[in-house]
Amino acid sequence: MNSSSQIVLSGLRPTGRVHLGNYFGAVRNWVELQDRYRCYYFVADWHALTSDYADPSKVRQATFDAVADYLAAGMDPEKATVFLQSDVKEHAELHLLLSMVTPLPWLERVPTFKDQQAQLEDKDLNTYGFLGYPLLQTADIILYRAAYVPVGEDQASHLELSREIVRRFNNFYGPVFPEPQPLFTATPKVPGLDGRKMSKSYGNTIGLTASADEIRALVSTMFTDPNRVRRSDPGNPDICNLFQFHKLFSDDATIARVDHECRTAQIGCVQDKRLLADIIIEKLRPIRERREEIDRNPSIVWDTLREGGKRARERAGETMASVRDAMKIGFPELR
Ligand code: TRP
Repeated sequence: MNSSSQIVLSGLRPTGRVHLGNYFGAVRNWVELQDRYRCYYFVADWHALTSDYADPSKVRQATFDAVADYLAAGMDPEKATVFLQSDVKEHAELHLLLSMVTPLPWLERVPTFKDQQAQLEDKDLNTYGFLGYPLLQTADIILYRAAYVPVGEDQASHLELSREIVRRFNNFYGPVFPEPQPLFTATPKVPGLDGRKMSKSYGNTIGLTASADEIRALVSTMFTDPNRVRRSDPGNPDICNLFQFHKLFSDDATIARVDHECRTAQIGCVQDKRLLADIIIEKLRPIRERREEIDRNPSIVWDTLREGGKRARERAGETMASVRDAMKIGFPELR
């Protein structure tokens, strides 16, 4: 199993522009991992179809925006292999072969299957593809014989299924795949503008590459301490949404000063919002400028995906050769 211990893989559904919740929750972590491991990062455009098959019209733009924002955020195609799932057909072949050995009840009992069907009830998710979502994810992972998969806690049951399938496969055909381990990293909670978790579905996000004007406008709508009604009322930073953002973006001295001046009513919420907006704008400036450069020269994205696809297919090709041998499919003589 050559150097599998060093391989990290993660997939991202194409959800369009990255927001601060995505950034602090996942993207920043992926960027850090690329210095320590051989990383494979891909956009799971086939997975997008499991729920959006009836209207896939947004998938391409969302894929472009996601990759452009990851690159802007520091994902480096010289260090990590960045590619598109649909560009490596071996994902589909392995998914098919794994489907032969996967007992239906294993898929039916994955909690996200029923949860998501209930949550997205405006879509008909009683499909073969949707049931197979975590199996396709398993193929994504083990195709690269990945050791670690950096994901959120919400993916734990998918990883557990992947491990069970690996054990079953290796049991039938010999030790082809290592068991992938999830890599849960502690990440800060990022509230949205309204204080709920930042999420596209709540419409409470701030884009990672938002313009200065957008950031000012969005920050001005942020919820603050609801008990602070008048400017002269002392505020409580502990329950103020703005203050959570200071903790993510501001230096220690500023955090301490805002904490004190809020509690003593020396700084007002409007003033604090201007201060915070300026800090966020400055902090995100390099990322925003890189994204602008990519928009002027989109071939940066195409070149990244083309190169990444090549490298991914190499690794995937090696794995599939062992899989076909192990499963006695085809003839080595025909290769
Ligand atoms: N299911 C993952 C998510 O919703 C996306 C994904 C697809 C993935 N394939 C993967 C994650 C392989 C890790 C590894 O976020």
